[in-house]
Amino acid sequence: MTKPTREQIDAEFAARRAKAREEVNKLDRNTIHSEPERGAFFNTVYDRANDDAAQIPWADLAPKPQLAAWLKANPGNGQTALDIACGLGDNAEEIAAARYDTTAFDLSQTAIDWAKQRFPSSKVKYLAASLFEPPMEWRGGFELVNECYTLQALPPQMLDKSTRAIANLVKPGGTLLVYSRMRHNIETPDGPPWPLHENDLMKFADLGFSLVADERFEVVRGERKVHHQFAHWHKSP
Ligand SMILES: C[S@@+](CC[C@H](N)C(=O)[O-])C[C@H]1O[C@@H](n2cnc3c(N)ncnc32)[C@H](O)[C@@H]1O
Repeated sequence: MTKPTREQIDAEFAARRAKAREEVNKLDRNTIHSEPERGAFFNTVYDRANDDAAQIPWADLAPKPQLAAWLKANPGNGQTALDIACGLGDNAEEIAAARYDTTAFDLSQTAIDWAKQRFPSSKVKYLAASLFEPPMEWRGGFELVNECYTLQALPPQMLDKSTRAIANLVKPGGTLLVYSRMRHNIETPDGPPWPLHENDLMKFADLGFSLVADERFEVVRGERKVHHQFAHWHKSP
């Protein structure tokens, strides 16, 4: 039998991931109104994946290219960094590789165990925790905070609370990176996910951050091109 090519393997993985996305969306719609924080949903997705990353619709198994480019231009020198809701750990690993003293957390213990298993000699401190009940010592504790796809993964009624929770983790004078899907239309979208509007991100300005740079781009998802933004914020000292 001939060995499958890289393209065939990737196509097969993408097809299984698309199928898994349909299934988890169905599962989600049944619980979303009873549990806006979606903890049970995320735990279920990781728990039932049985170590098959194709079952995790958001797992690219690679760091986000915009984050990687930012880190190349802004390497660390032992500064503290936090990756919020780290999933399977690819962004956290990239941050640590850029010489940041990196902590990464996710509410799912399964995701955390999986990340540790994928990166057995990692320098990242992985742990299970909730964004809404972080350890006390994390408050204002990190010089670099990276947030990727968490704000949009929580319903719009959670946005004020989630934005504030993220902002609280950044040290005064520190940096916050936010990677998200974006929408142009002001009306509340029918999620999940709930792509953000520019006004949503401006909540960080109200919390003492100034926008240093933002990159807008499109990510191809199947037949669609999805608007995205990668924003770099500075917290006032
Ligand atoms: C769409 S996924 C993105 C994961 C990862 N950041 C990435 O880009 O691959 C959202 C992640 O947020 C995590 N999550 C959701 N609510 C959370 C909370 N309150 N505290 C910590 N993690 C949370 C989920 O378990 C999930 O891993």
